[in-house]
Amino acid sequence: MKKIALFASGNGSNFQAIVDEIEKGALAAVIAVLVTDKPHCFAVERARKHNIPVFSFVPKNYPSKDEYEREIAFYLIEKNVSLIVLAGYMRLVGEVLLTAFPNRIINIHPTLLPAFPGKNGIKQAFDYGVKIFGVTVHYVDAGVDTGKIIAQESFKPEENETLQEIEEKIHAIEYQLYVKVIREHFVSLC
Ligand code: GRF
Repeated sequence: MKKIALFASGNGSNFQAIVDEIEKGALAAVIAVLVTDKPHCFAVERARKHNIPVFSFVPKNYPSKDEYEREIAFYLIEKNVSLIVLAGYMRLVGEVLLTAFPNRIINIHPTLLPAFPGKNGIKQAFDYGVKIFGVTVHYVDAGVDTGKIIAQESFKPEENETLQEIEEKIHAIEYQLYVKVIREHFVSLC
């Protein structure tokens, strides 16, 4: 069974969506670990509820990104993890992890990249007045949301839809698109 590591820093609703699919038997994978830089985030609570191991670290306790990424890489390799799935992980991935897992790190972003990368993408797009919203799943490289695109899904909002309504639609798309990409692109690889 394919072993996945989820990386999250916050709420973890995408993490939850993936856990739910696995528990339903709809995704042939195992979440070997939740990796987080925020030991008290809600994603950690979710992981504990499902008995998923948590690897948490506090970046400022390490001399450099290389140092904490080396520890993470060592742990993931030992656990036989073959895919890293970022889901609201609020840090740039560095050379150590990119080299240890080439083409095996993916991310989800709540806009149609390359538009509106970085933080608060949905609000940026809403304030800009875009007529089409969407979600992107992409490979991770050293940049901010710049890696090669794997899949996108878009929709046109209804007239006068609020930011909150649009956010809800985007998150609903995220949950099914991420699982679909993992299933179609990665679960058959070993
Ligand atoms: C999602 O909107 C995702 O696209 C972005 O961060 C958010 C994480 O939400 N990268 P959650 O923690 O999965 O609820």
